[in-house]
Parts: sequence; C-alpha cells; structure tokens
Amino acid sequence: MTSNLRVALGERSYDILVGQHVLGNGAGDAIARVIKSKSVIIVSDEHVARFYLHRLSNALEEQQIRSRSIIVKAGEASKSYSAFADLMENILEQKPDRNTTLIALGGGVVGDLTGFAASVCLRGLDFIQIPTSLLAQVDSSVGGKTGINSKFGKNLIGSFHQPILVIADVETLATLPARELMSGYAEIVKYGLINDPPLFTWLEKNAVEMLSGKRELVTEAVVASCNAKAAIVAADEKEQGQRALLNFGHTFAHAFEAETGFSQSLLHGEAVAIGMILAFQASVKMGLCDKVDYARVKAHYEATGLPLSPQYVQKEWNIDALMEHFTRDKKAKDGALTFVLTHGIGKAFVANNVDNSVIRETLVEACRGV
Ligand code: NAD
Ligand code: GLY
Repeated sequence: MTSNLRVALGERSYDILVGQHVLGNGAGDAIARVIKSKSVIIVSDEHVARFYLHRLSNALEEQQIRSRSIIVKAGEASKSYSAFADLMENILEQKPDRNTTLIALGGGVVGDLTGFAASVCLRGLDFIQIPTSLLAQVDSSVGGKTGINSKFGKNLIGSFHQPILVIADVETLATLPARELMSGYAEIVKYGLINDPPLFTWLEKNAVEMLSGKRELVTEAVVASCNAKAAIVAADEKEQGQRALLNFGHTFAHAFEAETGFSQSLLHGEAVAIGMILAFQASVKMGLCDKVDYARVKAHYEATGLPLSPQYVQKEWNIDALMEHFTRDKKAKDGALTFVLTHGIGKAFVANNVDNSVIRETLVEACRGV
C-alpha cells in the first residue's frame, strides 16, 4: 500500500508518496502527472544508480518520458563547489529548457545538490526527489532546503526550492549499508525528541525490530517522520520560527562534520545523534531539563547503537575550532550563540544568547571524556 501525504504550501504544495515497491509501481504515473514536458534529467550517484537507475528509467519509458542521466560521485564531497560546477555544465550540455524537470535519485547529498542545481539552472527548474537513503526519506527530501558546502561550513551556499513531488520507496533501503541506516535513524529520533513524545515512546518499543529490517515498521516510521516534517514546513517554510527546531543537535553536528572534513569518519546522521546528546547535556547543565529525560534518551541510544559521544571519532578535537564554527552557524546573530535546547523529551526550543562557557564545558567533557 502506498501512503499519499501532502506538504501544504499553497501553489507550491506537493505530494509525498511512501510505500514498498513504489519505484516500479506507481512512480512513472505520478511523475507523468506533475511534469511540464516529457523530458527529464535524472541525477544520481554511482552507488544508487547501479541499483535503481534502470528501474526508474523503465518506469519513465512506460510513460513515454525521455530521460537522460548524470552520475556523480557518492558522498559528501559531491556537495562541493567543483562538483556543483561539473554538474551544472553537464546539465547545460543536455540543453534543458524551462520545462525540463530534474530528478534527484539518491540520498541527501544527491537531493541537496540536485535541488540547488534546479533552483539556479535557467533561473529555476522543477525538480522531483526520489530519496533512497533512510535519512533522505525521513528528512532531507522534504521541505525544499537545497545547497552545497563551503570550507567555512556546511550548507552555507543554498536556497529554498521545493520539489514538485517526493517518492520514497522503502524497498530501496534493502541495499543501504547498515551504518547509513543508523545515520538516518537519528533523524527519526529527532522528531520524537523535538515535539513528539508518543513517537519517541513508539521508537523505544519498535526501533530495534524496525532497524533489523521489518519493512512495515520502517514504512510506518517514514510516514510518521514525513508527516512531522510536512507539518513544520507548512507552518514555517523559510525557517522564521518553529522550523528551527528541526536543527536540534545540528549546530554541534555541523561543527563536528566540518572538523572531520565532511568525511566518512563521521556521517551526517551520526553527527546529529551526537549533537542531540550534547544539547541534552548542555540543557541539564543549565537546569533546563530533568536528568531523567536525558537518561531515557541515553538508554535508547545504547539500545539501538546510536553514537553517544564525539569520541566515536578517533580524533583529538580542537575545542576552539569547534567553538569558532558555532559563531558561523546560520542561526548565530552578531556572534551571539543560538542553540536548540530542550526542557525534556518532546520539548525542544530555540535558545538565543546561549552562555558560551556552558557550551564550551559541555564540549570539553564530551570530547575529552572528563
Ligand atoms: P548520502 O547521500 O551520501 O548517502 C549515503 C550513502 O549511501 C552514499 O554512499 C550513497 O551512495 C548510499 N546510498 C544511498 N541510498 C542507497 C541505497 N538505497 N542503496 C545503497 N546505497 C545507497 O547521505 P545521506 O545520509 O542520505 O544524506 C546526508 C546529506 O543530507 C548531508 O549532506 C546533509 O547535509 C543533507 N541533509 C539535508 C537536509 C535538508 O533538509 N535538505 C536534511 C538533512 C540532511
Ligand atoms: N533538516 C532541517 C530542515 O529541513 O529544516
């Protein structure tokens, strides 16, 4: 069965289709209904293309849609200036016109990169997200944040550009490496922690079975996550208010990712998992959050295998460098730190003018194990 969710954004509203085997059964038809011309350009990465490009091309062919494909390297390095420039030149070589639709087939990297390319190519093309990693299915494919990285930090060059359709086929997760699955799981936990205690309780009960591959449970979790994200995006598309809650753990995470050179040594979801734990630790230190809630979150991490500490990476962390990243965060204003902190499970909030010294102390303890 396929669930059909909706992101309600007026004339920019779109559907999210979630289900098992949607790629071979329903995707072509759904795409045919939303595109302006029967010509699309698929962007995928080398891993995903090997498994799923054929399936998508066949589904499009059945609808007489002409597709060409561009394959980028797998991994975060494809969100660099140079990879973006290569992609743009490759797209332009295909002579797109304003009715051409780009399709992102892959994880969050392909989605962010393709979405950004779509937002600037010929001053704006339509694009469709077909997320194939858990992280992309539950988070990055929905909401229209697109972008690439700079040496100064993650996603600092980007745009808001909503897709016109999202198709999440949970069967594609069968080929996703286990570590990537866990990385995506962190973003599901995030929805429970920011404002949905019943979801967190459901995860406490079902996550271990879900992560062992039970498709019905995975589908349920993807639907719950997309619904949670769609509601927040519909209420605050451009992050003027509550959408900032989706950045729970991310200020820490982006700094850790930058300090590991956006490399495989720390995946985005792993960094987010660690960042959320640090946000809880800082909140407990500030007297904002009960230790009992922190202990419950920690127990869930231990039960599922989410990384708990920056010491997960074999690295001597430079605390000053991490602190410096926080001041460059998109939420920082005039050098004052803004963090998403918490009053407990499901009670995240945006805190402005956060005390640097508590953040530094939290980092030192977490990074050095004191
Ligand atoms: P990714 O795109 O690098 O995918 C992870 C790895 O899994 C890659 O090697 C990829 O080739 C492989 N892969 C993907 N699907 C597969 C499948 N079905 N079978 C086999 N291999 C598969 O990383 P990700 O974790 O999907 O996304 C991380 C990116 O998403 C980061 O750049 C992050 O900043 C971004 N992000 C964006 C948003 C947003 O709102 N735009 C939200 C969260 C994260
Ligand atoms: N992943 C954060 C957001 O979409 O706002």
